[in-house]
Order: sequence, then C-alpha cells, then structure tokens
Amino acid sequence: MNLVFLGPPGAGKGTQAKRLAREKGLVHISTGDILRDAVKRGTPLGLKAKEFMEKGQLVPDDLIIALIEEVMPPEGGVIFDGFPRTVPQAQALDEMLERKSLRLSKVILFEVDEDTVVERLSGRRTCPSCGAVYHIKFNPPKEDEICDRCKSPLVQREDDKEEVVRNRLRVYREQTAPLIDYYKRRDILVSLDASKDIESVYSDLLRVLNEEGD
Ligand code: AP5
Repeated sequence: MNLVFLGPPGAGKGTQAKRLAREKGLVHISTGDILRDAVKRGTPLGLKAKEFMEKGQLVPDDLIIALIEEVMPPEGGVIFDGFPRTVPQAQALDEMLERKSLRLSKVILFEVDEDTVVERLSGRRTCPSCGAVYHIKFNPPKEDEICDRCKSPLVQREDDKEEVVRNRLRVYREQTAPLIDYYKRRDILVSLDASKDIESVYSDLLRVLNEEGD
C-alpha cells in the first residue's frame, strides 16, 4: 500500500499518518519533518530550505524530488505526508514509482475549513526531541507543555505564527489544491471530513482504506 495524504496545513495529516504507520507497519515519509530536521542540523539541504520554510513558501521542487528519491524504500509501503505539493512533484512521484514497479493505492484528501486550520495551528505544540505532536486544547500532554513520551519541553513551530499560517494557506490554494483534480482524474482520490475529532477521523480513515480495498 502506498498512500498520499493531501490537505491544507493543520488538517491533521501528520497526526493520522503517524498512527496509521505505527499500526499498519508502513513507512511515514513527511517532507516537513525531514526538512525541519535538516534545518536543525544545519545540513546543506537545511540551509537552502530554511528561508522558504520561515516564510511559509514551498521549498523548490528539485530539492524535494531529490530528497524523496533518497528516502523512498525500494519495496514501497509508504505514507507520503505533505508530498507531493505541486504538479511537477506529482509527476516526478509517478515516474519514480513506475521505475520501481510500484503504484499509488489511494490519495486521501483531508478536508477542513480555514478557521479550523488557524485554531489548530495556533494551539499546536511539538516535541523537539521525539517529534510527538500535541494540541493545547484538542490533544494536550498530561503535564503542561511537557512531552508525555520523552519528557522534553514542548515548542511551538516558527511557521505556526498567524501571518505565516495565512501565507501557507494561500500557497496551498494556489500550488497544491490543483493536485485534487490531478488525482480525481485518476480515480484514486478519497475525501475525508477532517474537521471531526482525532479518533473519528482515524476510524473514517480505516473505513475508507478497508472499504476500497488494497
Ligand atoms: P509541513 O510540515 O508538511 O506542514 P503542513 O503541510 O503545512 O502540515 P502541518 O504539519 O502544518 O499540518 P498537518 O496536516 O500535518 O497537521 P497536524 O497533524 O500536525 O511543511 C512545512 C513546510 O515545509 C512547508 O511550509 C514548506 O516550506 C516545506 N515543505 C514541506 N513539504 C514540502 C514539499 N513537498 N514541497 C515543498 N516544500 C515543502 O495537526 C495540526 C494540529 O491540530 C496539532 O496540534 C494536532 O494535535 C491537532 N489536530 C490534528 N487533528 C485534529 C483533529 N481531528 N481535531 C482537533 N485537533 C487536531
């Protein structure tokens, strides 16, 4: 099974992808997580990506496509979270999968309105050590601002400031939303109501994956 999780920032793609990957033994490839790690470590990729990410712009396609080629397991079994985000990235993914005799099983579209996105991102906290994601209201840690798993102090992502979030939403509408039609034409797009609570979205996700086979 190879899945793409598509949807606006804050739709809950990462939250659901982490759990599904853990429970189904899939590889979770989040380009955002990989880029943030590269920025933190100051690698050549991180140095190039930093200025785009801080402004809420997309990192250039050539860097992202090279990154995916590097991390893609030869046997597949992947959830792509936050990739592809442009038509050229989607075309590059198609070519790469074809070369490996793999294919996309489904593209899951996480649908949620923009006010919900702003509320979710302004309350998001992440663990800089283990990558766990919380929300101060919808998914709070047991101890205030401390990671349940590794006890590190939680942080707020730089690009979760309101003006950067508004820009990320504009970039999504202009550059990423065209992928909805791209995958609809292939008949592999399935929409989920991502405005429901975390558990309900996860049950709906399992249902569409089971119902539609693979
Ligand atoms: P990236 O990290 O991919 O950010 P994103 O797509 O904007 O997605 P988010 O991580 O913000 O949201 P999410 O949908 O994963 O939501 P989450 O589960 O965390 O990208 C960051 C940057 O990297 C980009 O701006 C760009 O610069 C660059 N980049 C990355 N990929 C790229 C690419 N392919 N090409 C070019 N550039 C790229 O949930 C959000 C919050 O809501 C959390 O607090 C969570 O606890 C809470 N929550 C989740 N689900 C629910 C629910 N159902 N109900 C209530 N709360 C919920």
